[in-house]
Amino acid sequence: MKKFIPYGRQFIDHNDIQEAIDVLESDWITQGPKITEFETSLAHYCGAKYAVVFNSGTSALHGAYFALGLQEGDEFITTPITFVATANAGVYLGAKPIFVDVEPDTGNIDVQKIENNITKKTKLISVVHYAGHPVNLKSIQHIAQKYNLKIVEDACHALGAEYKASKSGENWTKIGSCKYSDATVFSFHPVKHITTGEGGAVLTNNEEVYEKLLLFRNHGITKNEQKFIGEKHGDWYYEMHFLGYNYRMTDIQAALGLSQLKKINAFVKKRREIAQIYNNAFKDNPFFYVPKERDYARSSFHLYPIRLKEKFINKKKEFFGELRQNGLGVQVHYVPVYYHPFYQSLGYKKGLCPTAEKFYGQEISLPIFPAMEGEDVKKVIEIVFNVFTTFI
Ligand SMILES: Cc1ncc(COP(=O)(O)O)c(C=O)c1O
Repeated sequence: MKKFIPYGRQFIDHNDIQEAIDVLESDWITQGPKITEFETSLAHYCGAKYAVVFNSGTSALHGAYFALGLQEGDEFITTPITFVATANAGVYLGAKPIFVDVEPDTGNIDVQKIENNITKKTKLISVVHYAGHPVNLKSIQHIAQKYNLKIVEDACHALGAEYKASKSGENWTKIGSCKYSDATVFSFHPVKHITTGEGGAVLTNNEEVYEKLLLFRNHGITKNEQKFIGEKHGDWYYEMHFLGYNYRMTDIQAALGLSQLKKINAFVKKRREIAQIYNNAFKDNPFFYVPKERDYARSSFHLYPIRLKEKFINKKKEFFGELRQNGLGVQVHYVPVYYHPFYQSLGYKKGLCPTAEKFYGQEISLPIFPAMEGEDVKKVIEIVFNVFTTFI
């Protein structure tokens, strides 16, 4: 049987497993010390003040939007080239996603098109660092400051990515530092840079947002007398201050995350190396474009998205099917969010973001993940060339 190479998968070693076992054998398997340890390490790695871990990237997005005040009747700006969660998390709060078109090459939100979509109801901009390639945060910040909007970075693809605001002077900053935004969200799903099985996190430099997030993931409940309750009751006492959820991560997951985080630099390095091998192999090929990095971006290559050249767009289904037939677990990222029947039922119409729709027509994600061996990478290149040359 042919070896199947997925587009992404986890890398879990003996140490990771042992860390999870240690927690299982300890007194705390949830809401114990590993949660805070993981949060502290994550905040430190990214260069942010605070991190709050959640049981998924989706719940973390929900928390970030809530803590920044998004509510019923508000609008928020986002991209259609993302996983539905980026938009859904705002819809949970009764807010309306306004989809802004993307750049034709990076697939990231087109900053030039944001201002035209701002109305009196706009509260927040949620940008996605698509495939791990940072958006130009400084220009997003410029718009947000002009219109007094909050910024959330959906960085579910971008742990370990770096951004530099100008060519001279400034140093590279890690995505997650929240230097240019109010909050940054990560996912620890198995295809992401590090995994906790399911899991996510919000990073922020704002203490008030941090406090809200802590409550939000635990039903809106607090025991903090000094900050929230104001008077002394007995030790049993807690209060619920707003409607929150059970979005807690377990200590088993946090221990796994902590152990995975120790390997993040090696993981990102490996992804970047694979991307470089692909770039060299596919340079100047007649069939598709390869991803390029902007001056301000160092991608962490969650995905390696190729885009079919215009004359081959109508062959995508065939190419995709053949690549799969040959053992490559290629995927398409993404069906534009407003194409989904749910969003159509809310009144969004196809044609809304023409560049995103073209991008969807062109895009195929090739396998890229740290556990890939040299042979796997060679195999991908060989199969891709075979399939494309056979079908032309
Ligand atoms: C861009 C983006 N946002 C949000 C999410 C949601 O994360 P999770 O699957 O951990 O809920 C994902 C995960 O697929 C994602 O890729």
